[in-house]
Amino acid sequence: MTQLAEEHGTPVIVFDRATLEARAAAYTREVPPANVLYAGKAFCCIAVCEILRDLGLGLDVCTGGELATALAAGFPPERIVFHGNNKSPEELVMARDAGVGRIVADSFDELHRLQDVGWPHKVLIRVTPGVEAHTHEYVQTGHEDSKFGFTLADGIALSALRTAAGLSLDLAGLHAHIGSQIFEEDAFELAAARLAGLAGEATEKLGLVMRELDLGGGLGIAYTPDDDPPDPAELVAAITRVARSAFAERGLAVPEILFEPGRALAGPAGVTVYRVGTVKRIPRARGHADQPDRVYVSVDGGMSDNPRHALYGAVYEAALANRMGDEAALWCSVAGKHCESGDVLIRDVRLPADVAPGDLLCIPATGAYTYSMASNYNRLPRPPVVLVHEGEASVIVRRESYEDVLRLDVPLG
Ligand code: LLP
Repeated sequence: MTQLAEEHGTPVIVFDRATLEARAAAYTREVPPANVLYAGKAFCCIAVCEILRDLGLGLDVCTGGELATALAAGFPPERIVFHGNNKSPEELVMARDAGVGRIVADSFDELHRLQDVGWPHKVLIRVTPGVEAHTHEYVQTGHEDSKFGFTLADGIALSALRTAAGLSLDLAGLHAHIGSQIFEEDAFELAAARLAGLAGEATEKLGLVMRELDLGGGLGIAYTPDDDPPDPAELVAAITRVARSAFAERGLAVPEILFEPGRALAGPAGVTVYRVGTVKRIPRARGHADQPDRVYVSVDGGMSDNPRHALYGAVYEAALANRMGDEAALWCSVAGKHCESGDVLIRDVRLPADVAPGDLLCIPATGAYTYSMASNYNRLPRPPVVLVHEGEASVIVRRESYEDVLRLDVPLG
């Protein structure tokens, strides 16, 4: 990390190819590679699409921009699934003409729009199965309040299947994505059972056969040593087994199982390296002897390259790359350089007590939903992404220059 920071400057996102490939292998042990549709929203760039293309994986895109990236990487369009609750007519035409293999229909409006554009490929129906899952917990609801998909409640999902079957569409199956950063097997299993129930109804009442079951993404990863996610290979095996038997038990043909992991593949592969610029100690509030001083360690990036703490209160770990052996005894907050108090990357983390300007601060598990959600807030150029593999490093996304930041401005003259 110190060498990469020297060569590429800071901040820099270091992305490890072997980790991405190993994480993908946990899925491809259970289902064919093409049934593992990497969720591009986690981190989408041409090089990552090329790696996944060569592994034989599929890809989940949810905008024309992600689709354009995949196509620029020569990603086989038949292995792409197109998502989104409000795909534009232009995006539908773009996907149709590119030969995108599957579309996940999200609304009645869209089903009719698909008919209008003559969508010739597979269609999956996105179902909200009343299972809402987040880290360490999930809730069951009769009626999931979500902008996505068709709820099982009030027969709406069944009615979407009836509508799709009445149109000239290739209705291939069902899709559900129940949340993100999930640790519990039960949540996926319950969703699979509910989808099997819907498939049973579709067969009984409409004579339809669901050939495919896409169980979405959502598998959680460790951000700190306190996180103890299940082993991905075991979890994928358990979910696949339960999903298959839920169909078999109802006397239904067992569908192809698909997954759409994003974070579980890309998250652990990324480490962001920043340089510490200032260290500021704020004395404890008067009358609060129990509270320690607050120490702000400010780095040269922030909420523009990783908005996850500011947005979700996400928790991360950090270490100083240039002195990994030093005892981390001082509680600190790691802040960015943006003009906003909420620009905090880590609220509480232990670092060596003499942390100082010039130190290289690494935050691991930043491969997913950091660069893909990065902005130019305060006109800060975005960092580069450097791919490391077998001792070699190559830039896969270059650092933005001020010229890049200004490139869309049109002066009045
Ligand atoms: N499939 C669908 C339809 C999705 O909506 C998502 C994520 C995934 C797959 C991939 O989920 P994953 O395996 O990565 O959990 N920005 C948030 C996460 C938003 C996830 C949105 N959908 C974050 O930083 O935590």
